Amino acid sequence: MYAQLVKSEGMKSPEEMSPEERAFQERVDRNEKIEPKEWMPDGYRKTLIRQIGQHAHSEIVGQLPEGNWITRAPTLERKAILLAKVQDEAGHGLYLYSAAETLGVTRDELTEKLLSGNMKYSSIFNYPTLTWADMGAVGWLVDGAAIMNQVPLQRTSYGPYSRAMIRICKEESFHQRQGYAIMMKMAKGTPEQKEMAQDALNRFWFPALMMFGPSDKDSVHSAQSMAWKIKMNTNDELRQKFVDETVPQAEYLGLTVPDETLSWNEEKGGYDFAEPDWSEFFEVIKGNGPCNEERLGARRDAWEKGAWFREGLTAYADKAAARRANALVAAE
Ligand code: 3HC
Repeated sequence: MYAQLVKSEGMKSPEEMSPEERAFQERVDRNEKIEPKEWMPDGYRKTLIRQIGQHAHSEIVGQLPEGNWITRAPTLERKAILLAKVQDEAGHGLYLYSAAETLGVTRDELTEKLLSGNMKYSSIFNYPTLTWADMGAVGWLVDGAAIMNQVPLQRTSYGPYSRAMIRICKEESFHQRQGYAIMMKMAKGTPEQKEMAQDALNRFWFPALMMFGPSDKDSVHSAQSMAWKIKMNTNDELRQKFVDETVPQAEYLGLTVPDETLSWNEEKGGYDFAEPDWSEFFEVIKGNGPCNEERLGARRDAWEKGAWFREGLTAYADKAAARRANALVAAE
């Protein structure tokens, strides 16, 4: 798999590295954690800000498709569970924004980049959630794909990111389980409920596969990110793992994965499966998915309506800092 990766732009061989860069690479190779105040190549910092920032935005935007169903959850218990899950996602966003801030970027800067379209969030959240069964499919498939990607990231080389991932993964496991529990209820329910579960699987299967990013031959960052252990696996490796784990779960539910080409390949010890429609993926990440406008509109609205609150907080912080400075001057 690794051999198929395209060389990332600006990636240096050991001979091309400066002594500082080589020493840094050796630390990464020894699995030492890199901490915020330590020297790091500019590209490492930039890649981390991009990936962690995008990840943080995904957690925050990811609240929207499920938040949409909180008021319509079928029982009090389901409502409480969904509410807790959506609140967890807000927490994940906050840990990740904090991790990104340790690299010298502010949360305001990251948000402005998101709102101006200069920073991405996960493609998956640009698809609508049309029925209650989608809450099951999102938890099962979307959080399932997120865990597949995030468990290895607990070992990522950047200390604050790695520690944030440990906490996040614990909560993501609960999210995946609650989704699967909804799917079980629906798939074993009335024929109409089973049909809703199947329909949700049909709509979310390929978008979930897209979450892992483009195929390795089109992944521009993987080679460098893996050398720096910002990523621990290639996009295709994780996608394969996800399919291998998820297909038996669909079978247990009595549902059909919407891929006629799906078949077990004894030789590779995994499933052969159809690739997602990559032209759709690239359109979605360019901003042309079914819900891009709505999702960014909601974030923009929240940002604008929250301005008075942020200003209030900063005004207090500024006044407190001025008071402390005055007290120091007075004491001298
Ligand atoms: N959605 C949107 N953009 C994507 C994408 C996706 N699913 N997959 C790839 N891209 C973008 C990349 O950001 C990059 O664009 P950029 O240069 O403008 O940033 C471009 O497509 C090329 O892809 P690469 O494979 O070269 O990019 P990466 O090496 O960054 O790999 C990734 C993509 C696997 C998503 C990686 O960034 C990653 O592992 N990120 C951390 C995990 C993450 O962000 N997860 C979000 C999932 S949702 C979530 O966690 C919420 C949970 O509650 C469900």
